[in-house]
Amino acid sequence: MDNRPIGMFDSGFGGLTVLRALIDVAPKENIIYVGDTARYPYGSKPLEEVRGYSIEIATRLVSEFGVKMVVVACNTASSVVLDTLSSTLEVPVIGVIEPGVRAALIATSTDRVGVIGTVGTISSGSYQRAFVDYNIKLTCAACPGFVEFVERGETTGDEVHVLAERLLQPIIEADVDTLLLGCTHYPFLARTISDVLGREVTLVSSADETAFQIARELENLNLDNQAQDGGKVNFYSSASPEYFAEIGQRLLGFPIDDVIAW
Ligand code: DGL
Repeated sequence: MDNRPIGMFDSGFGGLTVLRALIDVAPKENIIYVGDTARYPYGSKPLEEVRGYSIEIATRLVSEFGVKMVVVACNTASSVVLDTLSSTLEVPVIGVIEPGVRAALIATSTDRVGVIGTVGTISSGSYQRAFVDYNIKLTCAACPGFVEFVERGETTGDEVHVLAERLLQPIIEADVDTLLLGCTHYPFLARTISDVLGREVTLVSSADETAFQIARELENLNLDNQAQDGGKVNFYSSASPEYFAEIGQRLLGFPIDDVIAW
């Protein structure tokens, strides 16, 4: 039993999709969530810059907060920094790419799969590499602008719908039966994305599968927390804590009491 917290980070609110799944799967775990809202979006920045931010946050989570595991709850960061973090940090590191791929492989029946993500994620080739060993016809599309809607707390409406119609065109043309939401912000836009693609396309997010992997690894390493007083979540934001609390609780669907400046 280990009651040290799990450290989790994203460029902003996207990682909350992973957090929400983790609370369901491992309710006794203490979690520190960092939203790097001052420096979002990561997806349109040079990958080296995203690497730098990610290393800085993950290192601080370990050295200052004593976390027992780091969860990179961001596809863009997972695409570029996972190997480095895994080899340099003394705690286990989990990203969202592999769990997402597993979930998509389970969901597809036609083997025509789409992946959408940030410009950074799609251009890094991380999903193209992750699917290469499987017999899948993969169609990737970057969706610049989606993250900004979520960060404003605007998850439905005409504007985001029109943008989705344009950006999802390659996915519609590829006639996929499964779409992997390769950005942790995108599950918040699931309604809009599904309205555009039609209900026959299954939307898959990495959140649930990542949460299961976290729980499995904690158990395997005897790092899971059984304490009755566990389950505390502390939120940190590099921008305005008040704004993070306001939009964060709207997206999460439950109150966030305290957000602390990162
Ligand atoms: N949520 C992030 C991801 O999964 C990044 C969004 C961004 O800041 O561009 O890629």
